[in-house]
Amino acid sequence: MHASNALFIVKLFTLLPIRLVYCYLVILIRHRRSLKGSIWIRAFMREAFDMTDDHTCPDIINPLFNLCVNYLCDKVETIQYQITDEHRLSFSAIGLRDEMIDVRYRWYYKPDDFNASDDDILLYFHGGGFAVTLVPTSLIFLRNLSIWFPKMAIIMIDYSVTVGENDKQYPYQILESIGLYTHLINNLQCKNVILMGESAGGNLELALLNYLSTTTMMKTKIPLPKKTILISPWVNPSRLDRYDIMQEKEIERLDCLSFEGLEKFTKRYLQSMNPLNGVNSLPFVDLSYDFDSDNWKTILEQSSIYITYGKDEILKPQIQTFIKNLEMIHPNNFDTSRQVSAYEGGCHIEPLLKLDTDLNSWSMHASVNGILRFIEH
Ligand SMILES: *[C@@H]1O[C@H](CO)[C@@H](O)[C@H](O)[C@H]1NC(C)=O
Ligand SMILES: *[C@@H]1O[C@H](CO)[C@@H](O)[C@H](O)[C@H]1NC(C)=O
Repeated sequence: MHASNALFIVKLFTLLPIRLVYCYLVILIRHRRSLKGSIWIRAFMREAFDMTDDHTCPDIINPLFNLCVNYLCDKVETIQYQITDEHRLSFSAIGLRDEMIDVRYRWYYKPDDFNASDDDILLYFHGGGFAVTLVPTSLIFLRNLSIWFPKMAIIMIDYSVTVGENDKQYPYQILESIGLYTHLINNLQCKNVILMGESAGGNLELALLNYLSTTTMMKTKIPLPKKTILISPWVNPSRLDRYDIMQEKEIERLDCLSFEGLEKFTKRYLQSMNPLNGVNSLPFVDLSYDFDSDNWKTILEQSSIYITYGKDEILKPQIQTFIKNLEMIHPNNFDTSRQVSAYEGGCHIEPLLKLDTDLNSWSMHASVNGILRFIEH
């Protein structure tokens, strides 16, 4: 085992409990908030992640998560997707050589009598800053969702991550997303696709929508999904809106992410494309910073978007900017009273942290309820 992995494990049992006690006291005393709900999990996620380094994700966290997911879900399936000059041009990835890429996915649930032209199919994009694979606890959310919507199929993309042996960077994850989406449309003939994703997965959904809208003028035109659900989407990975240092410390304490953690993710995802290296426009990365009004007008005319986020999260400013952008270009097709839910006291990916054994009380939870209603209507 790599020395830093051993160190991580040692820290997990020594430093982490001390850090957590400190964080909980700050939350109780300074913020006058109780530790009810997701608030104790948030500090755990944030503090534990900040103790990781380049080896921890590929050597410990991802293998552990994969082991659980392999046990709980169907096996990974793979399709091949052809990279074209159109892609290379769109993503300024002229150096991208692979002609064919592998796209991996899993069926989470497929009803026996699934009818692609009638029934909904949910395409799920997990989060994890492009570095972490699907977190097994997300499966609880998907399971509850499939109990609620028994006729809906659920498929999950298993996109490449930015760490480990087969690490891949931008725009690979976007190409894989396009690959699986076009497979659903062209090969499985799905007519009612719903995209759903959280955090970095939300960024991929946005990049996919943006890409699809650029194809509406082309021969290769691909229809847009019927609906898109964005749970705390990471809208601008390379353009983090910063606050002043004191405010950052305040807001970080209540969220499950830290600014430092986000920066690590960005560096791995963008590498040489990073704006820090002089690249100044990444329309498929920083979706609200490089907001293309024409594209998003097209998108809102064909697809209905729902956005949910927590009022305690560090991504709040960029999510709010994106919401304002959408509202401005198409107020008729983006009604913030129905299509946005900002959850009071909620953190990053709050709906996924809602673990409830009673289906009715789960469905009534403020961060979950809006999502269910949006899928229903
Ligand atoms: C799926 O639904 C369509 C429209 O309702 C129907 O025409 C078709 O026969 C169905 N397909 C199957 C395999 O049941
Ligand atoms: C959601 O799924 C989990 C895990 O399978 C289960 O324990 C829980 O009872 C479910 N909750 C609801 C509300 O169905």
